[in-house]
Order: sequence, then structure tokens, then C-alpha cells
Amino acid sequence: MQNHEILVMNGPNLSRLGRREPDIYGDVTLDAVNAGLRERFPDVAFTFFQSEYEGALIEELYRVEDRGGCSGAVLNAGALTHYSIALRDAISAVGFPVIEVHLSNVHARETFRHTSVLAAVCAGVISGFGVDSYRLGVEAITHMAGAES
Ligand code: DQA
Repeated sequence: MQNHEILVMNGPNLSRLGRREPDIYGDVTLDAVNAGLRERFPDVAFTFFQSEYEGALIEELYRVEDRGGCSGAVLNAGALTHYSIALRDAISAVGFPVIEVHLSNVHARETFRHTSVLAAVCAGVISGFGVDSYRLGVEAITHMAGAES
């Protein structure tokens, strides 16, 4: 039985994971990250979504919400993290928890990356653990969902 439904969303430039600045983001592709999550959490029904477009990420949040919601979403919004009020408003509008994740430790990088306009409306933030940030995000959702039931 699949206990949890979890949306894993990636924003702009994360399609290039594995090739893009590997010294910062590592050499694992997004497909491999997603496959690793499926393997590690066989009881979770995952939906994986990536887009370079702010509006497409917002539409996906509403698509999941309209079909009945999910246990939670793990979101690496990429650079949108630092300025997308529209994405923040969409996170506030949906009824399921969203965990903000980052591969890199954004607080150890350029100052413009220290600000997240999403964090305050997310259930929590995980930053700096490479691809493990996604695993920790999924675990956070399953723990929160478990605590509720
Ligand atoms: C990122 C950090 C962001 O600042 C950056 O724009 C990204 C990736 C991360 O996973 O470390 O695209 O979200």
C-alpha cells in the first residue's frame, strides 16, 4: 500500500543537474535523484515535476490541490526562491505542507541567496545536504503526516 502522496517539484535550471556547476550542485542528474527517491521510499506515491517557468510550478501546485491534495511537497524552486512572490502566494493558497529544499547551503553563498521569500510560508527549510536534501524533505513530510494520523 502507498501511504503518502508526495509532490517533488524543481524549478528553473534544475533540469541541468549533474551537468550544471557540478562543483556546487554535484554530478547526479535530476532523473537519478528522482529514481533514488522512488527506490528509497517504495511506499510513497511520488509525482515529479520540473519546469523552467514560474507559472508552470504554480499550475502544478493547483493541479495537485484540485485533485484532492497530497501529503506534502518537496520544492527546490531554484532562483525563484529568492524573489517569486507569486510562487509564495501559491504555496500559501494550497492546503498541503511544502518543504523548501536546496542542494547547496544558500547561507554560505552570495548574499542575494540568503533571502528566501518562500521560507515563511513553507513548513520548513532544508539546505546544504546535496541530493540528500530531497530525502530529508521527504522524511520531514512523512514524519509530519505520521504525527497527524
Ligand atoms: C538552489 C540554490 C539557488 O540559489 C539556486 O538559484 C539554484 C539551486 C540549490 O538547490 O542549492 O538554482 O536552489
